[in-house]
Amino acid sequence: MRIYRDEDADLSVLQGKQIAIIGYGNQGRAQALNLRDSGLQVLVGNRADEYADQARADGFSVLPIAEAAAQGDVIALLIPDEVAPEVFEREIAPGLTPGKALAFASGYNVAFGFLQPPPEVDVVLVAPRMIGTGVRDLYLAGKGFPSFIGVAQDATGRARDVALALAKGIGSTRAGVVEVTFAQEAELDLFTEQCFGPAFGHVLTTAVDLLIEEGYPPEAVLLELYMSGELAYTLGKIAEMGLVEQTALHSRTSQYGSLSRGMRFLLPELRERMREGLEEIRSGKFAQEWAAEQAAGCPTLEALRQAARGQPLYRWEQQLRQALAYTPPPAVGLVRERPAVPPRKAGVGKLDRALAWLRRLWAPRLGRQEVLQPARSLRPEEVSAVFRAFLDRVSRDEALRAFAQGRDLTVHYVLEEPSLEFYMRFTDGQVAAGLGAPPGPAQVRLRARVDVLDGMLTGRIPAMRAAMTGQLRFEGEARLAMSLQAVQGDLSRLYQEVRREVTGVVR
Ligand code: NAI
Repeated sequence: MRIYRDEDADLSVLQGKQIAIIGYGNQGRAQALNLRDSGLQVLVGNRADEYADQARADGFSVLPIAEAAAQGDVIALLIPDEVAPEVFEREIAPGLTPGKALAFASGYNVAFGFLQPPPEVDVVLVAPRMIGTGVRDLYLAGKGFPSFIGVAQDATGRARDVALALAKGIGSTRAGVVEVTFAQEAELDLFTEQCFGPAFGHVLTTAVDLLIEEGYPPEAVLLELYMSGELAYTLGKIAEMGLVEQTALHSRTSQYGSLSRGMRFLLPELRERMREGLEEIRSGKFAQEWAAEQAAGCPTLEALRQAARGQPLYRWEQQLRQALAYTPPPAVGLVRERPAVPPRKAGVGKLDRALAWLRRLWAPRLGRQEVLQPARSLRPEEVSAVFRAFLDRVSRDEALRAFAQGRDLTVHYVLEEPSLEFYMRFTDGQVAAGLGAPPGPAQVRLRARVDVLDGMLTGRIPAMRAAMTGQLRFEGEARLAMSLQAVQGDLSRLYQEVRREVTGVVR
Protein backbone atom coordinates (compact mmCIF):
# COMPACT_ATOMS: atom_id res chain seq x y z
CA MET A 1 0.00 0.00 0.00
CA ARG A 2 1.34 3.41 -0.93
CA ILE A 3 2.00 5.97 1.79
CA TYR A 4 1.82 9.55 0.52
CA ARG A 5 4.23 12.06 2.07
CA ASP A 6 4.80 15.81 1.67
CA GLU A 7 6.71 15.34 -1.59
CA ASP A 8 3.75 13.49 -3.15
CA ALA A 9 1.30 16.35 -2.61
CA ASP A 10 1.17 19.69 -4.37
CA LEU A 11 -0.34 22.64 -2.51
CA SER A 12 -0.50 24.70 -5.69
CA VAL A 13 -3.57 22.64 -6.69
CA LEU A 14 -5.43 24.74 -4.10
CA GLN A 15 -3.68 28.03 -4.73
CA GLY A 16 -6.11 30.72 -5.85
CA LYS A 17 -9.05 28.52 -4.85
CA GLN A 18 -11.50 29.40 -2.11
CA ILE A 19 -11.75 26.74 0.58
CA ALA A 20 -15.03 26.86 2.51
CA ILE A 21 -14.87 25.06 5.84
CA ILE A 22 -18.43 24.22 6.88
CA GLY A 23 -18.52 23.77 10.64
CA TYR A 24 -16.02 25.14 13.15
CA GLY A 25 -15.97 22.39 15.81
CA ASN A 26 -13.33 19.80 16.65
CA GLN A 27 -12.11 19.23 13.10
CA GLY A 28 -13.38 22.43 11.50
CA ARG A 29 -11.38 24.81 13.66
CA ALA A 30 -8.18 22.77 13.54
CA GLN A 31 -8.33 22.25 9.77
CA ALA A 32 -9.29 25.86 9.01
CA LEU A 33 -6.39 27.23 11.07
CA ASN A 34 -3.88 24.78 9.61
CA LEU A 35 -4.97 25.42 6.01
CA ARG A 36 -4.74 29.19 6.55
CA ASP A 37 -1.31 28.83 8.14
CA SER A 38 -0.29 26.80 5.09
CA GLY A 39 -0.99 29.90 2.97
CA LEU A 40 -4.38 28.89 1.60
CA GLN A 41 -7.51 30.99 1.26
CA VAL A 42 -10.07 29.88 3.84
CA LEU A 43 -13.50 31.10 4.86
CA VAL A 44 -15.92 29.54 7.32
CA GLY A 45 -19.57 28.63 6.82
CA ASN A 46 -21.46 28.25 10.06
CA ARG A 47 -24.89 28.74 11.53
CA ALA A 48 -25.14 31.55 14.11
CA ASP A 49 -23.84 29.92 17.27
CA GLU A 50 -20.81 30.07 19.57
CA TYR A 51 -18.70 28.19 17.02
CA ALA A 52 -19.29 31.03 14.56
CA ASP A 53 -18.21 33.52 17.28
CA GLN A 54 -15.03 31.52 17.79
CA ALA A 55 -14.29 31.52 14.06
CA ARG A 56 -14.73 35.28 13.93
CA ALA A 57 -12.51 35.68 17.00
CA ASP A 58 -9.88 33.63 15.16
CA GLY A 59 -10.01 36.16 12.33
CA PHE A 60 -12.02 34.23 9.75
CA SER A 61 -14.73 35.63 7.57
CA VAL A 62 -17.85 33.71 8.63
CA LEU A 63 -20.83 33.33 6.30
CA PRO A 64 -24.12 31.46 6.51
CA ILE A 65 -23.55 27.88 5.32
CA ALA A 66 -25.38 28.30 1.99
CA GLU A 67 -23.36 31.41 1.10
CA ALA A 68 -20.07 29.83 2.07
CA ALA A 69 -20.91 26.76 -0.04
CA ALA A 70 -21.78 29.00 -2.99
CA GLN A 71 -18.45 30.87 -2.68
CA GLY A 72 -16.23 27.84 -2.06
CA ASP A 73 -14.37 25.99 -4.81
CA VAL A 74 -13.52 23.32 -2.26
CA ILE A 75 -16.18 22.73 0.36
CA ALA A 76 -15.17 20.75 3.44
CA LEU A 77 -18.19 19.45 5.31
CA LEU A 78 -17.02 19.32 8.94
CA ILE A 79 -20.25 19.15 10.90
CA PRO A 80 -21.53 16.10 12.83
CA ASP A 81 -22.34 13.13 10.58
CA GLU A 82 -25.87 12.93 12.01
CA VAL A 83 -26.85 16.36 10.69
CA ALA A 84 -24.76 16.43 7.52
CA PRO A 85 -27.32 14.88 5.07
CA GLU A 86 -30.02 17.39 5.94
CA VAL A 87 -27.67 20.40 5.91
CA PHE A 88 -26.21 19.16 2.63
CA GLU A 89 -29.60 18.91 0.92
CA ARG A 90 -30.82 22.24 2.18
CA GLU A 91 -27.76 24.47 2.12
CA ILE A 92 -24.84 22.95 0.26
CA ALA A 93 -26.27 21.17 -2.78
CA PRO A 94 -27.78 24.35 -4.28
CA GLY A 95 -24.33 25.98 -4.32
CA LEU A 96 -22.55 23.06 -6.00
CA THR A 97 -21.59 23.89 -9.56
CA PRO A 98 -19.63 21.58 -11.89
CA GLY A 99 -15.92 21.29 -11.09
CA LYS A 100 -16.21 22.06 -7.39
CA ALA A 101 -14.85 19.64 -4.81
CA LEU A 102 -16.68 18.35 -1.78
CA ALA A 103 -14.48 17.08 1.06
CA PHE A 104 -15.47 14.90 4.02
CA ALA A 105 -13.62 13.91 7.18
CA SER A 106 -15.66 10.73 7.50
CA GLY A 107 -16.85 8.26 4.87
CA TYR A 108 -20.06 7.40 6.74
CA ASN A 109 -22.78 9.33 4.90
CA VAL A 110 -21.49 8.73 1.40
CA ALA A 111 -20.64 5.06 2.06
CA PHE A 112 -24.07 4.24 3.48
CA GLY A 113 -25.97 6.32 0.92
CA PHE A 114 -27.38 8.98 3.27
CA LEU A 115 -25.88 11.76 1.17
CA GLN A 116 -25.66 11.74 -2.63
CA PRO A 117 -23.54 14.47 -4.22
CA PRO A 118 -24.28 15.34 -7.85
CA PRO A 119 -22.02 13.56 -10.38
CA GLU A 120 -20.38 16.72 -11.72
CA VAL A 121 -18.38 17.48 -8.55
CA ASP A 122 -15.30 15.82 -7.06
CA VAL A 123 -15.99 13.99 -3.81
CA VAL A 124 -12.97 13.37 -1.62
CA LEU A 125 -12.16 12.13 1.84
CA VAL A 126 -9.52 13.59 4.14
CA ALA A 127 -10.04 11.83 7.44
CA PRO A 128 -7.43 12.52 10.11
CA ARG A 129 -6.71 9.64 12.47
CA MET A 130 -6.42 12.28 15.16
CA ILE A 131 -8.82 14.33 17.24
CA GLY A 132 -9.19 17.99 16.33
CA THR A 133 -7.01 19.40 19.10
CA GLY A 134 -4.25 16.99 18.08
CA VAL A 135 -4.58 18.09 14.45
CA ARG A 136 -3.85 21.66 15.50
CA ASP A 137 -1.26 20.99 18.19
CA LEU A 138 0.80 18.63 16.06
CA TYR A 139 0.71 21.09 13.15
CA LEU A 140 1.99 23.87 15.43
CA ALA A 141 4.67 21.56 16.81
CA GLY A 142 5.93 20.99 13.25
CA LYS A 143 4.86 17.35 13.37
CA GLY A 144 2.14 15.52 11.49
CA PHE A 145 -0.55 12.94 12.04
CA PRO A 146 -1.75 10.17 9.76
CA SER A 147 -4.92 10.48 7.71
CA PHE A 148 -6.96 8.39 5.34
CA ILE A 149 -7.70 9.99 2.00
CA GLY A 150 -10.12 8.73 -0.59
CA VAL A 151 -11.93 9.58 -3.80
CA ALA A 152 -15.59 8.71 -4.29
CA GLN A 153 -16.10 10.80 -7.45
CA ASP A 154 -13.50 12.19 -9.80
CA ALA A 155 -15.39 14.61 -12.03
CA THR A 156 -12.40 16.82 -12.87
CA GLY A 157 -9.74 14.12 -13.13
CA ARG A 158 -7.89 15.91 -10.33
CA ALA A 159 -9.81 14.72 -7.28
CA ARG A 160 -6.88 12.75 -5.80
CA ASP A 161 -4.61 15.79 -6.19
CA VAL A 162 -7.18 17.90 -4.32
CA ALA A 163 -7.38 15.32 -1.50
CA LEU A 164 -3.60 15.16 -1.24
CA ALA A 165 -3.28 18.96 -1.28
CA LEU A 166 -5.85 19.26 1.51
CA ALA A 167 -4.00 16.58 3.49
CA LYS A 168 -0.78 18.53 3.01
CA GLY A 169 -2.43 21.81 3.96
CA ILE A 170 -3.64 20.43 7.28
CA GLY A 171 -0.18 18.99 7.97
CA SER A 172 -0.98 15.33 7.55
CA THR A 173 1.41 14.37 4.75
CA ARG A 174 4.26 15.24 7.14
CA ALA A 175 3.42 11.96 8.87
CA GLY A 176 1.94 9.95 5.99
CA VAL A 177 -1.38 9.47 4.29
CA VAL A 178 -3.01 6.24 3.15
CA GLU A 179 -5.66 5.92 0.44
CA VAL A 180 -8.82 3.93 1.22
CA THR A 181 -12.36 3.88 -0.08
CA PHE A 182 -15.12 5.80 1.72
CA ALA A 183 -16.64 2.45 2.72
CA GLN A 184 -13.37 1.16 4.14
CA GLU A 185 -12.90 4.29 6.24
CA ALA A 186 -16.44 4.15 7.57
CA GLU A 187 -16.36 0.41 8.27
CA LEU A 188 -13.00 0.52 10.03
CA ASP A 189 -14.15 3.46 12.12
CA LEU A 190 -17.35 1.69 13.18
CA PHE A 191 -15.50 -1.56 13.83
CA THR A 192 -13.18 0.23 16.25
CA GLU A 193 -16.16 1.75 18.04
CA GLN A 194 -18.41 -1.29 18.07
CA CYS A 195 -16.09 -4.28 18.22
CA PHE A 196 -12.53 -3.51 19.23
CA GLY A 197 -13.36 -0.82 21.81
CA PRO A 198 -16.09 -2.75 23.66
CA ALA A 199 -14.12 -6.03 23.52
CA PHE A 200 -11.08 -4.29 24.94
CA GLY A 201 -13.22 -2.56 27.56
CA HIS A 202 -14.81 -5.84 28.50
CA VAL A 203 -11.41 -7.42 29.08
CA LEU A 204 -10.63 -4.52 31.39
CA THR A 205 -13.87 -4.65 33.35
CA THR A 206 -13.69 -8.45 33.67
CA ALA A 207 -10.24 -8.08 35.19
CA VAL A 208 -11.45 -5.37 37.61
CA ASP A 209 -14.42 -7.49 38.62
CA LEU A 210 -12.37 -10.63 39.20
CA LEU A 211 -9.64 -8.92 41.21
CA ILE A 212 -12.10 -7.10 43.48
CA GLU A 213 -14.00 -10.35 43.96
CA GLU A 214 -10.71 -11.95 44.99
CA GLY A 215 -10.31 -9.36 47.72
CA TYR A 216 -7.82 -6.87 46.26
CA PRO A 217 -8.52 -3.27 47.36
CA PRO A 218 -10.61 -1.57 44.65
CA GLU A 219 -8.37 1.53 44.66
CA ALA A 220 -5.30 -0.62 44.06
CA VAL A 221 -7.06 -2.59 41.31
CA LEU A 222 -8.15 0.51 39.39
CA LEU A 223 -4.73 2.10 39.75
CA GLU A 224 -2.96 -1.05 38.67
CA LEU A 225 -5.13 -1.65 35.63
CA TYR A 226 -5.74 1.78 34.16
CA MET A 227 -6.23 4.77 36.42
CA SER A 228 -2.52 5.44 36.93
CA GLY A 229 -2.32 6.23 33.22
CA GLU A 230 0.28 3.49 32.68
CA LEU A 231 -2.03 1.63 30.30
CA ALA A 232 -2.65 4.78 28.23
CA TYR A 233 1.07 5.55 28.24
CA THR A 234 1.88 2.02 27.12
CA LEU A 235 -0.68 2.27 24.30
CA GLY A 236 1.11 5.43 23.22
CA LYS A 237 4.37 3.51 23.15
CA ILE A 238 2.71 0.69 21.18
CA ALA A 239 1.63 3.28 18.58
CA GLU A 240 5.15 4.70 18.52
CA MET A 241 7.25 1.51 18.56
CA GLY A 242 4.91 -1.33 17.58
CA LEU A 243 3.44 -4.09 19.73
CA VAL A 244 6.51 -6.32 19.57
CA GLU A 245 9.25 -3.70 19.95
CA GLN A 246 7.66 -2.03 22.95
CA THR A 247 8.01 -5.26 24.97
CA ALA A 248 11.66 -4.19 25.41
CA LEU A 249 10.39 -1.44 27.74
CA HIS A 250 9.12 -4.04 30.18
CA SER A 251 11.07 -6.25 32.58
CA ARG A 252 12.21 -9.71 31.54
CA THR A 253 9.82 -11.18 34.11
CA SER A 254 7.01 -9.31 32.43
CA GLN A 255 8.14 -10.42 28.97
CA TYR A 256 8.43 -14.08 29.96
CA GLY A 257 5.14 -14.02 31.87
CA SER A 258 3.09 -12.41 29.15
CA LEU A 259 4.58 -14.35 26.26
CA SER A 260 4.37 -17.73 28.01
CA ARG A 261 0.82 -17.22 29.38
CA GLY A 262 -0.72 -15.30 26.49
CA MET A 263 -1.97 -18.37 24.60
CA ARG A 264 -4.57 -18.96 27.30
CA PHE A 265 -6.49 -15.94 26.04
CA LEU A 266 -6.75 -16.92 22.40
CA LEU A 267 -10.51 -17.20 22.46
CA PRO A 268 -12.03 -18.24 19.10
CA GLU A 269 -15.43 -16.90 20.14
CA LEU A 270 -14.04 -13.39 20.35
CA ARG A 271 -13.12 -13.53 16.68
CA GLU A 272 -16.59 -14.80 15.78
CA ARG A 273 -18.26 -11.99 17.73
CA MET A 274 -16.06 -9.44 15.96
CA ARG A 275 -16.97 -10.96 12.62
CA GLU A 276 -20.68 -10.70 13.50
CA GLY A 277 -20.20 -7.05 14.42
CA LEU A 278 -18.30 -6.37 11.20
CA GLU A 279 -21.03 -8.06 9.14
CA GLU A 280 -23.66 -5.87 10.75
CA ILE A 281 -21.60 -2.80 9.82
CA ARG A 282 -20.79 -3.85 6.24
CA SER A 283 -24.32 -4.91 5.38
CA GLY A 284 -25.53 -1.42 6.36
CA LYS A 285 -27.72 -2.96 9.08
CA PHE A 286 -26.15 -0.82 11.78
CA ALA A 287 -26.45 2.36 9.69
CA GLN A 288 -30.14 1.67 9.00
CA GLU A 289 -30.78 0.88 12.66
CA TRP A 290 -29.04 4.09 13.78
CA ALA A 291 -30.98 6.15 11.22
CA ALA A 292 -34.28 4.67 12.49
CA GLU A 293 -33.21 5.28 16.08
CA GLN A 294 -32.49 8.95 15.31
CA ALA A 295 -35.75 9.35 13.43
CA ALA A 296 -37.57 8.00 16.50
CA GLY A 297 -35.84 10.57 18.75
CA CYS A 298 -33.17 8.19 20.13
CA PRO A 299 -35.27 6.31 22.74
CA THR A 300 -32.82 3.40 22.93
CA LEU A 301 -29.83 5.66 23.32
CA GLU A 302 -31.69 7.44 26.09
CA ALA A 303 -32.53 4.12 27.77
CA LEU A 304 -28.87 3.13 27.61
CA ARG A 305 -27.83 6.44 29.08
CA GLN A 306 -30.42 6.13 31.83
CA ALA A 307 -29.13 2.69 32.67
CA ALA A 308 -25.58 4.02 32.70
CA ARG A 309 -26.30 6.92 35.03
CA GLY A 310 -25.60 6.37 38.68
CA GLN A 311 -23.46 3.27 38.29
CA PRO A 312 -21.30 3.05 41.42
CA LEU A 313 -18.00 2.60 39.58
CA TYR A 314 -18.39 5.94 37.87
CA ARG A 315 -18.89 7.86 41.13
CA TRP A 316 -16.14 5.92 42.73
CA GLU A 317 -13.68 6.62 39.93
CA GLN A 318 -14.38 10.35 40.32
CA GLN A 319 -13.64 10.12 44.04
CA LEU A 320 -10.39 8.27 43.40
CA ARG A 321 -9.34 10.86 40.81
CA GLN A 322 -9.99 13.72 43.21
CA ALA A 323 -8.22 11.96 46.08
CA LEU A 324 -5.20 11.34 43.88
CA ALA A 325 -5.00 14.93 42.59
CA TYR A 326 -3.14 13.49 39.63
CA THR A 327 -3.42 13.77 35.90
CA PRO A 328 -2.00 10.83 33.99
CA PRO A 329 0.76 11.66 31.49
CA PRO A 330 -0.26 12.23 27.88
CA ALA A 331 -0.46 9.04 25.90
CA VAL A 332 1.24 9.92 22.64
CA GLY A 333 3.79 12.52 23.60
CA LEU A 334 1.37 15.32 22.82
CA VAL A 335 2.08 18.35 24.93
CA ARG A 336 -0.86 20.71 24.58
CA GLU A 337 -0.11 24.41 24.85
CA ARG A 338 -3.68 25.36 25.71
CA PRO A 339 -7.18 24.16 25.10
CA ALA A 340 -7.71 24.93 21.41
CA VAL A 341 -11.34 25.83 21.92
CA PRO A 342 -12.83 27.21 25.13
CA PRO A 343 -14.64 24.56 27.14
CA ARG A 344 -17.30 23.15 24.93
CA LYS A 345 -17.47 19.61 23.69
CA ALA A 346 -14.09 18.02 24.35
CA GLY A 347 -12.76 15.82 21.58
CA VAL A 348 -12.02 12.30 22.76
CA GLY A 349 -10.50 9.30 21.06
CA LYS A 350 -12.55 6.29 20.10
CA LEU A 351 -10.93 4.08 22.68
CA ASP A 352 -11.48 6.66 25.41
CA ARG A 353 -15.08 6.99 24.35
CA ALA A 354 -15.59 3.24 24.42
CA LEU A 355 -13.87 2.92 27.79
CA ALA A 356 -15.78 5.83 29.29
CA TRP A 357 -19.00 4.28 28.06
CA LEU A 358 -18.10 0.94 29.58
CA ARG A 359 -16.94 2.49 32.81
CA ARG A 360 -20.28 4.18 33.19
CA LEU A 361 -22.20 1.06 32.31
CA TRP A 362 -20.29 -1.34 34.42
CA ALA A 363 -21.26 -1.98 38.00
CA PRO A 364 -18.33 -3.52 39.87
CA ARG A 365 -18.37 -5.44 43.08
CA LEU A 366 -19.14 -2.21 44.91
CA GLY A 367 -22.47 -2.38 43.12
CA ARG A 368 -23.07 -5.85 44.40
CA GLN A 369 -22.92 -4.63 47.98
CA GLU A 370 -25.87 -2.44 47.17
CA VAL A 371 -27.81 -5.33 45.74
CA LEU A 372 -30.32 -6.91 48.06
CA GLN A 373 -29.70 -10.50 48.95
CA PRO A 374 -32.56 -12.84 48.09
CA ALA A 375 -34.74 -13.63 51.08
CA ARG A 376 -35.33 -16.98 49.41
CA SER A 377 -34.55 -18.31 45.96
CA LEU A 378 -37.31 -19.84 43.90
CA ARG A 379 -37.57 -23.58 44.58
CA PRO A 380 -37.33 -25.71 41.41
CA GLU A 381 -40.89 -26.95 41.88
CA GLU A 382 -42.17 -23.35 42.08
CA VAL A 383 -40.51 -22.17 38.89
CA SER A 384 -43.05 -23.23 36.29
CA ALA A 385 -46.01 -22.18 38.48
CA VAL A 386 -44.53 -18.70 38.97
CA PHE A 387 -43.73 -18.20 35.31
CA ARG A 388 -47.06 -19.65 34.08
CA ALA A 389 -49.00 -17.23 36.29
CA PHE A 390 -46.64 -14.38 35.38
CA LEU A 391 -47.15 -14.94 31.63
CA ASP A 392 -50.88 -15.13 32.10
CA ARG A 393 -50.78 -11.74 33.76
CA VAL A 394 -48.42 -10.36 31.09
CA SER A 395 -50.89 -11.26 28.33
CA ARG A 396 -53.69 -9.36 30.10
CA ASP A 397 -51.87 -6.25 31.29
CA GLU A 398 -53.05 -2.86 30.02
CA ALA A 399 -49.64 -1.15 30.19
CA LEU A 400 -48.09 -3.93 28.13
CA ARG A 401 -50.89 -3.67 25.57
CA ALA A 402 -50.12 0.01 25.23
CA PHE A 403 -46.45 -0.86 24.67
CA ALA A 404 -47.53 -3.34 21.96
CA GLN A 405 -49.24 -0.58 19.92
CA GLY A 406 -47.52 -0.30 16.55
CA ARG A 407 -44.97 -3.01 17.35
CA ASP A 408 -44.14 -6.42 16.04
CA LEU A 409 -41.75 -7.91 18.55
CA THR A 410 -41.35 -11.50 19.72
CA VAL A 411 -38.99 -12.25 22.59
CA HIS A 412 -37.91 -15.80 23.36
CA TYR A 413 -36.59 -16.47 26.87
CA VAL A 414 -34.43 -19.53 27.33
CA LEU A 415 -33.81 -20.27 31.00
CA GLU A 416 -31.45 -22.73 32.64
CA GLU A 417 -31.28 -24.44 36.04
CA PRO A 418 -34.02 -25.58 35.79
CA SER A 419 -34.54 -25.29 32.06
CA LEU A 420 -37.64 -23.48 30.96
CA GLU A 421 -38.62 -21.61 27.82
CA PHE A 422 -41.22 -18.95 27.37
CA TYR A 423 -42.08 -16.12 25.00
CA MET A 424 -43.77 -12.75 24.85
CA ARG A 425 -45.17 -11.42 21.62
CA PHE A 426 -46.15 -7.78 21.20
CA THR A 427 -48.10 -7.15 18.00
CA ASP A 428 -50.37 -4.22 17.17
CA GLY A 429 -51.68 -3.62 20.66
CA GLN A 430 -51.95 -7.33 21.51
CA VAL A 431 -49.78 -9.28 23.92
CA ALA A 432 -49.42 -13.05 23.72
CA ALA A 433 -47.24 -14.86 26.25
CA GLY A 434 -46.82 -18.48 27.22
CA LEU A 435 -44.52 -21.29 28.24
CA GLY A 436 -42.53 -23.04 25.51
CA ALA A 437 -41.01 -21.73 22.28
CA PRO A 438 -42.77 -18.89 20.45
CA PRO A 439 -45.20 -19.87 17.68
CA GLY A 440 -43.21 -17.86 15.07
CA PRO A 441 -39.69 -16.47 14.66
CA ALA A 442 -38.34 -14.31 17.51
CA GLN A 443 -36.33 -11.14 16.86
CA VAL A 444 -34.75 -11.30 20.32
CA ARG A 445 -33.63 -14.32 22.36
CA LEU A 446 -32.59 -13.87 25.99
CA ARG A 447 -30.70 -16.55 27.89
CA ALA A 448 -30.09 -16.61 31.64
CA ARG A 449 -30.25 -18.86 34.67
CA VAL A 450 -33.63 -18.81 36.43
CA ASP A 451 -32.13 -17.20 39.53
CA VAL A 452 -30.60 -14.41 37.43
CA LEU A 453 -33.90 -13.56 35.72
CA ASP A 454 -35.65 -13.87 39.08
CA GLY A 455 -33.07 -11.43 40.52
CA MET A 456 -33.61 -8.99 37.66
CA LEU A 457 -37.38 -9.05 37.93
CA THR A 458 -37.29 -8.62 41.71
CA GLY A 459 -34.75 -5.79 41.53
CA ARG A 460 -31.90 -7.70 43.18
CA ILE A 461 -29.74 -7.78 40.06
CA PRO A 462 -29.36 -4.75 37.76
CA ALA A 463 -30.13 -5.91 34.22
CA MET A 464 -27.20 -3.96 32.80
CA ARG A 465 -24.78 -5.65 35.14
CA ALA A 466 -26.20 -9.07 34.32
CA ALA A 467 -25.63 -8.29 30.64
CA MET A 468 -22.12 -6.93 31.20
CA THR A 469 -21.01 -9.96 33.21
CA GLY A 470 -22.46 -12.46 30.75
CA GLN A 471 -25.14 -13.71 33.16
CA LEU A 472 -27.74 -12.44 30.73
CA ARG A 473 -26.98 -13.10 27.08
CA PHE A 474 -29.00 -11.96 24.15
CA GLU A 475 -29.11 -12.79 20.48
CA GLY A 476 -30.89 -10.84 17.80
CA GLU A 477 -31.56 -7.17 17.37
CA ALA A 478 -29.97 -5.04 20.08
CA ARG A 479 -32.29 -2.11 19.45
CA LEU A 480 -35.38 -4.26 19.92
CA ALA A 481 -33.91 -5.91 23.02
CA MET A 482 -33.25 -2.46 24.47
CA SER A 483 -36.81 -1.35 23.72
CA LEU A 484 -37.93 -3.81 26.40
CA GLN A 485 -36.39 -1.46 28.96
CA ALA A 486 -39.50 0.67 28.56
CA VAL A 487 -41.64 -2.08 30.15
CA GLN A 488 -39.07 -3.42 32.60
CA GLY A 489 -40.99 -1.75 35.45
CA ASP A 490 -44.30 -3.32 34.35
CA LEU A 491 -42.79 -6.78 33.96
CA SER A 492 -41.21 -6.48 37.42
CA ARG A 493 -44.50 -5.33 38.94
CA LEU A 494 -46.40 -8.32 37.51
CA TYR A 495 -43.66 -10.78 38.42
CA GLN A 496 -43.45 -9.58 42.01
CA GLU A 497 -47.23 -9.79 42.44
CA VAL A 498 -47.20 -13.38 41.23
CA ARG A 499 -44.10 -14.36 43.16
CA ARG A 500 -45.64 -13.06 46.37
CA GLU A 501 -48.85 -15.01 45.74
CA VAL A 502 -47.12 -18.28 44.83
CA THR A 503 -44.17 -18.28 47.26
CA GLY A 504 -45.29 -15.89 49.95
CA VAL A 505 -42.20 -13.68 49.50
CA VAL A 506 -41.35 -11.00 46.95
CA ARG A 507 -37.63 -11.66 46.90
P1 NAI B 1 -18.42 18.90 15.92
O1 NAI B 1 -19.44 18.21 16.76
O2 NAI B 1 -17.26 19.49 16.64
O3 NAI B 1 -19.15 19.99 15.02
C1 NAI B 1 -19.53 21.20 15.52
C2 NAI B 1 -19.86 22.10 14.35
O4 NAI B 1 -21.02 21.62 13.67
C3 NAI B 1 -20.16 23.52 14.80
O5 NAI B 1 -19.57 24.41 13.87
C4 NAI B 1 -21.67 23.60 14.73
O6 NAI B 1 -22.11 24.91 14.44
C5 NAI B 1 -21.97 22.68 13.56
N1 NAI B 1 -23.30 22.10 13.64
C6 NAI B 1 -23.77 21.25 14.60
N2 NAI B 1 -25.06 20.92 14.35
C7 NAI B 1 -25.42 21.60 13.23
C8 NAI B 1 -26.61 21.69 12.48
N3 NAI B 1 -27.72 21.01 12.85
N4 NAI B 1 -26.61 22.47 11.39
C9 NAI B 1 -25.52 23.15 11.01
N5 NAI B 1 -24.35 23.11 11.68
C10 NAI B 1 -24.30 22.34 12.77
O7 NAI B 1 -17.94 17.90 14.74
P2 NAI B 1 -16.55 17.15 14.59
O8 NAI B 1 -16.34 16.25 15.76
O9 NAI B 1 -15.49 18.13 14.24
O10 NAI B 1 -16.85 16.22 13.33
C11 NAI B 1 -16.88 16.77 12.02
C12 NAI B 1 -16.53 15.68 11.03
O11 NAI B 1 -15.21 15.23 11.28
C13 NAI B 1 -17.43 14.46 11.13
O12 NAI B 1 -17.59 13.95 9.83
C14 NAI B 1 -16.60 13.50 11.96
O13 NAI B 1 -16.94 12.14 11.72
C15 NAI B 1 -15.21 13.82 11.45
N6 NAI B 1 -14.11 13.50 12.34
C16 NAI B 1 -14.11 13.99 13.63
C17 NAI B 1 -13.03 13.76 14.47
C18 NAI B 1 -12.95 14.45 15.81
O14 NAI B 1 -11.86 14.81 16.21
N7 NAI B 1 -14.06 14.68 16.51
C19 NAI B 1 -11.89 12.93 14.04
C20 NAI B 1 -11.95 12.55 12.65
C21 NAI B 1 -13.04 12.80 11.87
